[in-house]
Amino acid sequence: MLMMWLQLGMHLCEGQCVGSIFYSTCSIPIVNMTTDGGARLRKAFEVAKEVTIGKMIVSISPSGPFLQRFANYVDLVWFDSYREAAFQVPDGNTISGIIIGYAPGMRTFIAGSNTHLESLDISKCSLDRVPQTLPKMTKLKFLSITQCKITVLRLDMFADNQYLKNLDLSYNQIQQLLPVTGRPARMLSIETLTLRGNLLQNLDLALFVAMPQLLNLNFLNNLIVSLDVSAPIALPNLSGLYLGYNKLVSLDLRNLTLPKLETFSFGPNALTQMPILPRPLPKFNYLSLSANNLTQLDMTYFRPYPNLQKIYISSNQITTVRASSPVRLQVDYLELSNNKITTFNITGWDMPNITLLNLDGNQLSVVPSVFERYPKVYLFMNRNPVLCDALLPFKDRLKNYQLQKDPWPLSKACTTISSFTVDETMKICCDQ
Ligand SMILES: *[C@@H]1O[C@H](CO)[C@@H](O)[C@H](O)[C@H]1NC(C)=O
Ligand SMILES: *[C@@H]1O[C@H](CO)[C@@H](O)[C@H](O)[C@H]1NC(C)=O
Ligand SMILES: *[C@@H]1O[C@H](CO)[C@@H](O)[C@H](O)[C@H]1NC(C)=O
Ligand SMILES: *[C@@H]1O[C@H](CO)[C@@H](O)[C@H](O)[C@H]1NC(C)=O
Ligand SMILES: *[C@@H]1O[C@H](CO)[C@@H](O)[C@H](O)[C@H]1NC(C)=O
Ligand SMILES: *[C@@H]1O[C@H](CO)[C@@H](O)[C@H](O)[C@H]1NC(C)=O
Repeated sequence: MLMMWLQLGMHLCEGQCVGSIFYSTCSIPIVNMTTDGGARLRKAFEVAKEVTIGKMIVSISPSGPFLQRFANYVDLVWFDSYREAAFQVPDGNTISGIIIGYAPGMRTFIAGSNTHLESLDISKCSLDRVPQTLPKMTKLKFLSITQCKITVLRLDMFADNQYLKNLDLSYNQIQQLLPVTGRPARMLSIETLTLRGNLLQNLDLALFVAMPQLLNLNFLNNLIVSLDVSAPIALPNLSGLYLGYNKLVSLDLRNLTLPKLETFSFGPNALTQMPILPRPLPKFNYLSLSANNLTQLDMTYFRPYPNLQKIYISSNQITTVRASSPVRLQVDYLELSNNKITTFNITGWDMPNITLLNLDGNQLSVVPSVFERYPKVYLFMNRNPVLCDALLPFKDRLKNYQLQKDPWPLSKACTTISSFTVDETMKICCDQ
């Protein structure tokens, strides 16, 4: 007989209400399945939709036959902690959701034929591959195996899971993605693929041609140094591509056709040049290039993207912002804080919708002449060496915080050689 410590939270789906209670929970500190445990559990489910067990004693395993025995009562099984090396879902089991929160010893997961399981979520386990029996769980919609030991991801594995929409394999040790093979290649139905925190170094987005339903692709926190698109492909539904916290020095996405793309998130990385993006991108709205190594910003770069409204390029090495030829942009939020900007030349670029321009933490000694053209814009210029003479004309805007430049309490001494008073409580410290 095995002794095991585990906590199960069992939810009965669509159960009857008891009296006037809509949702009832009961908890049993200890259940001995080798004696009266089964009867106690059945009784508990007569009065509660959710039963929590502190410790359960079973004769063989808390998966396999155990799951079968309770399938009639239980819709979702949640193991806080699972101590066995194998997890088994019996043939024909009808439970629709299984969550295993902590299973450091679990090395295998075996499923029988199954047409009910829709959601499987395993974390902190020792699985080193995606379960081979995955194709048997034909109705699976959501699969998450995180903080385990998977090293290779074969997209072929998912060809029989035509309902699978959401696949999360974050924080494994995946170094390699293998494309769908077979001719003609079968298409996968995955909409959201999350591979955060793996060990990918090289990535070819062309292999996602087998996932035409993709909405979001997330590769944050890998070791990607090179990302290619080795053949022209379209991802007709892709809305977000997340590549931050990698080691990309350059990025060329010209071979992608992305009619629905809204968000590109590319920072932090080590980009020294602006990425080469597909054009057109009719829905492109949000770009983040924060924490890269860009040195110049020519606003004409954004010309092909008439719907781009949010641009975040903070924490780079940019010294000059200008437009090499006239351009009109829809941007409403332009974030350029913590660069090394000494020249911010707004001649030739128009941004009638701008509401916030953040230039905090740069090297500007004058206030760019933005208020004349955009009287309602909020301009942030904290931590810039702007001289008193350059700030004085903006006293009213400093007072209503439309211009923010290191507001200082009137009562506190400045560290600069000069200052001027803005109102009863605030002054600006600056050099002459
Ligand atoms: C569980 O029940 C079996 C059978 O009666 C008994 O031998 C065992 O000691 C019980 N375990 C615990 C921890 O109570
Ligand atoms: C685009 O695809 C072609 C193959 O058609 C390939 O030769 C080329 O290198 C790719 N370009 C980029 C920038 O990835
Ligand atoms: C993908 O796009 C097609 C065509 O625009 C649409 O019919 C389908 O519903 C989309 N899929 C998702 C998951 O949005
Ligand atoms: C950016 O460039 C500087 C100087 O070339 C280098 O020291 C730094 O490591 C680079 N940063 C990144 C994130 O690559
Ligand atoms: C600002 O940019 C315009 C257009 O590129 C250029 O003609 C002008 O000389 C620049 N002004 C300064 C002060 O650099
Ligand atoms: C930008 O402002 C113009 C008016 O100046 C307005 O017609 C347009 O709808 C605005 N665009 C966005 C995306 O808000």
